[in-house]
Amino acid sequence: MMLDAFRRPLRDLRVSVTDRCNFRCTYCMPLDEYEWLEKGEVLSFEEITRLARLFVSLGVEKVRLTGGEPLARRDLHKLVASLSALDPAPEICLTTNGSLLADKAADLVAAGLRRINVSIDSLKPERFRRITKRGDLDKVLDGLFAAQRLGLHPIKINAVIERGVNDDEVLDLVAFAREHAFSMRFIEFMDVGNANEWQMQKIVSKREMLETIHAQFPLREIGRDKGSAPAVDYEFVDGRGGDVGVIASVTEPFCGSCTRARLTADGKFVTCLFAHTGYDVKKLLRGGASDAEVLGVLETIWGKRSDRYSEERLTALQSAVGYDPKRQKKLEMISLGG
Ligand code: GTP
Ligand code: 5AD
Ligand code: SF4
Ligand code: SF4
Repeated sequence: MMLDAFRRPLRDLRVSVTDRCNFRCTYCMPLDEYEWLEKGEVLSFEEITRLARLFVSLGVEKVRLTGGEPLARRDLHKLVASLSALDPAPEICLTTNGSLLADKAADLVAAGLRRINVSIDSLKPERFRRITKRGDLDKVLDGLFAAQRLGLHPIKINAVIERGVNDDEVLDLVAFAREHAFSMRFIEFMDVGNANEWQMQKIVSKREMLETIHAQFPLREIGRDKGSAPAVDYEFVDGRGGDVGVIASVTEPFCGSCTRARLTADGKFVTCLFAHTGYDVKKLLRGGASDAEVLGVLETIWGKRSDRYSEERLTALQSAVGYDPKRQKKLEMISLGG
């Protein structure tokens, strides 16, 4: 097992397969224009598979494909197939905005995809469009149900809750998830990237969300999956299907058990969601490095890892000086994949 400076093992790899996205969610990438990566800068499927194989040999058990919007990358199912063929095979998961899922779900499942998380912040079509700037809620719901019909389970719905934007929909989202046996996950608005104008006043805390839900649908805490997942999970006391999870990176950070590494679309190895830079593994691969050389670099970087950004943010928020989200430039969520 490979441990970092705080003795945290490496267990999960989040791979951004493209920085492109057909949405412009206000909390993630609100800018219309953005300097997109050139095609040649993006890791090929062969490069991603090679790196995934090396990461698996270092202890990674789960590979999550993200973006931008991962389904905007052509033939993504081919990557899923090559990752599924690794030995031992990691669990292959996908985080998507769902807009292209209806067409692609069958190929992805046939290729070995087992789990998906779909972002849905509102069940009101107009509001959904306002938040995503371009999204069509019906299409996303079509994708969600197509995935369910194909037998994917659990299917998690991610909703970033922002005060004054969609905080009045928490109970409707829970009711929807209960009705259709989805896992509903509420996410505290985070200061990812550099463009989302994050302010503490805009967040709705885990505690507040749980109070609202519990009053209508009593919950019982289950805990974090494997002890290290971002979400704390709850089941319904009445035994109804579906469940609820809350990801409280701001008010209850979980850096202490963070087992996640990230690979950006252009091949940087990143050790924290809030990092401002990553190590250029693509350069190493394209420079002809052997597997042993690449492994050596990955091991050295993970061994020195001391990131705990969200815990530091909480300390700053609670201090007299306060917290300035712009104190350091960060990588954008669309190239990092959340
Ligand atoms: P599961 O495997 O289903 O538990 O997925 P996940 O929650 O790890 O991944 P997903 O892509 O669905 O992310 C949900 C939310 O959690 C997003 O807002 C992510 O940015 C956030 N998130 C995921 N990992 C981390 C992390 O290591 N740190 C922080 N601060 N947020 C994270
Ligand atoms: N705060 C919290 N979650 C975010 N996501 C994107 N931007 C933010 C943010 N500022 C979430 C999306 C998606 C996942 C990849 O990251 O909702 O579900
Ligand atoms: Fe929205 Fe995801 Fe696209 Fe970001 S990457 S703009 S969260 S759909
Ligand atoms: Fe891990 Fe960084 Fe998120 Fe903390 S803030 S949980 S160290 S990715």
